Amino acid sequence: MKPDGVQPPLSAFDPESLGRRPRRSPLVLLSVILFASITFVAYPAGFSIRASRPSPGSFYHNVRKPVGICANVSSVSHAGHIGLKGDTNSAPKRSFFWYFEAEENPTDAPIILTMGGGPGTTGLMNTLNGQSPCLASENGLIANPNRWTEKHNLIALDHPIGVGFSYGSHVNSSRAAAYDVYDFLQKFFVLFPQLARNKFIISGGSYGGVYVPNIATVIYEQNLLIKSGKGQPGALPIDLDALIISNPFTSPVAHFRWVLQYRCQEHHVYNATDCERLYSYLPECLDGIETAFQHPTVANRILASKLCFNRMIADTHGIVHEDIRRTCVPDSDSPESCHPNFGWMRKIFADEHVRQELGIPDGVNFTGLNMEVNAEFLGAGDLIQPHHLLYSPLLASGIRLLHYIGMQDANCPWPGIFSFLKLLETPFQGEFVSAPDVPWPTKDVATVRAVGPGAGNMTFILVAEAGHFTVGDQPALAKKIVETWVANLPWF
Ligand SMILES: *[C@@H]1O[C@H](CO)[C@@H](O)[C@H](O)[C@H]1NC(C)=O
Ligand SMILES: *[C@@H]1O[C@H](CO)[C@@H](O)[C@H](O)[C@H]1NC(C)=O
Ligand SMILES: *[C@@H]1O[C@H](CO)[C@@H](O)[C@H](O)[C@H]1NC(C)=O
Ligand SMILES: *[C@@H]1O[C@H](CO)[C@@H](O)[C@H](O)[C@H]1NC(C)=O
Ligand SMILES: *[C@@H]1O[C@H](CO)[C@@H](O)[C@H](O)[C@H]1NC(C)=O
Repeated sequence: MKPDGVQPPLSAFDPESLGRRPRRSPLVLLSVILFASITFVAYPAGFSIRASRPSPGSFYHNVRKPVGICANVSSVSHAGHIGLKGDTNSAPKRSFFWYFEAEENPTDAPIILTMGGGPGTTGLMNTLNGQSPCLASENGLIANPNRWTEKHNLIALDHPIGVGFSYGSHVNSSRAAAYDVYDFLQKFFVLFPQLARNKFIISGGSYGGVYVPNIATVIYEQNLLIKSGKGQPGALPIDLDALIISNPFTSPVAHFRWVLQYRCQEHHVYNATDCERLYSYLPECLDGIETAFQHPTVANRILASKLCFNRMIADTHGIVHEDIRRTCVPDSDSPESCHPNFGWMRKIFADEHVRQELGIPDGVNFTGLNMEVNAEFLGAGDLIQPHHLLYSPLLASGIRLLHYIGMQDANCPWPGIFSFLKLLETPFQGEFVSAPDVPWPTKDVATVRAVGPGAGNMTFILVAEAGHFTVGDQPALAKKIVETWVANLPWF
């Protein structure tokens, strides 16, 4: 870790370190939430269950209801591992989830699947930073007055394998990891069949801005295959309704086209000397990405990463990339010192009682940020792909897309996000480009640009007083945004 502050998630990429442990820590957050409830309920009438549908006995699972680990929280949750395709006891491949039941009508409530970023960050970070009934704090797990679970089932997933408590065989791409999520969900719905037909929403931020469109695409494509009778044996359609994205890294070309505008022009995150040097690298970086889009080989993607990530970073002189309102210089022996959440989570999940309640097997340790996973994704060139284009068919098919973005984030700065959304070819493009940014009518400083009925088919919310971690910075506003979005109600 360099002494100039925690590096942005993407800056973790050090091409020289491929195959070794990278030296720096990436920081991208993802949130995913999945639901499950343990009572076994019959399938709704008319559901055809093929003989080949997996039975609870046909895959590994250990699910329990944790009790008493979250101070003053009485709501019901279920946690455990589900074995994915290829999983065996000697060569495991097991996803960890923590499903928090909705307080109101959990059997019918929409499901939000939340995950982390990175690549390599635990899915529990966003979960415990404002989404779930439990909040991570220096005093352990405490109650969250702004939890998303009053009206929604929430499934937190440690995605991909290797992060958090998920363990076993790794994959090295967001698409392969998305197939793992699909497998996980099908098995989750075997264990929690009463939820299988609920409205389904996926939430992620930071590198989750790559995971989420890939997962949504796999679900969408598999739903179409099921419709034409060609789905995976026994797979059920998933009622994918909407996506929720905060401060994503999604479009590398838009990110780098705009990143210095934010770090050097709109704000002075770096000084003039450094900015001048960085700008001199920018044309090569953008050409490298375009080459990798035209000829998408791993070598071209890695070359583009080399030409871009570390060359758009300079000394912040103490400004925190994830929230430019903050200054903090991490202790050299404690790189987490500017982001204490990671340390709180490590302590919470090392606690024997917490581990027992969550059903964590002996020998499985919590990994808040898995640098091996990070290096594997970077080494396969996962980052330098036009992931944003995945949204076009999803939007055209009626899946709704929300971005809510903290404006104080120099890690995934908002202008690059707004840029790819405006340029995205969708049925909503013309309207989205010309729609007004309507001010939030309360004291919360935010604007809403929405196209379509209700909360919108394509909606972009800018939150003035939030950084990379909007939920943690503006928990009450984030809850209001998410509840309005999922219910698809007009904003004001
Ligand atoms: C839990 O509730 C008790 C009694 O209402 C209160 O004294 C205590 O501070 C609460 N603890 C937390 C962590 O919220
Ligand atoms: C800008 O910061 C760099 C360190 O990143 C330093 O070497 C340089 O002297 C600074 N330039 C000015 C004009 O302050
Ligand atoms: C897990 O943590 C324990 C306690 O810190 C340690 O002894 C053990 O080596 C760790 N296991 C792995 C697989 O890292
Ligand atoms: C990524 O994983 C696939 C499947 O295991 C493997 O074939 C490929 O070589 C890996 N790519 C890199 C760059 O390691
Ligand atoms: C926009 O969203 C509504 C639901 O609010 C849906 O009925 C409609 O089909 C969507 N429009 C398009 C063009 O997909």
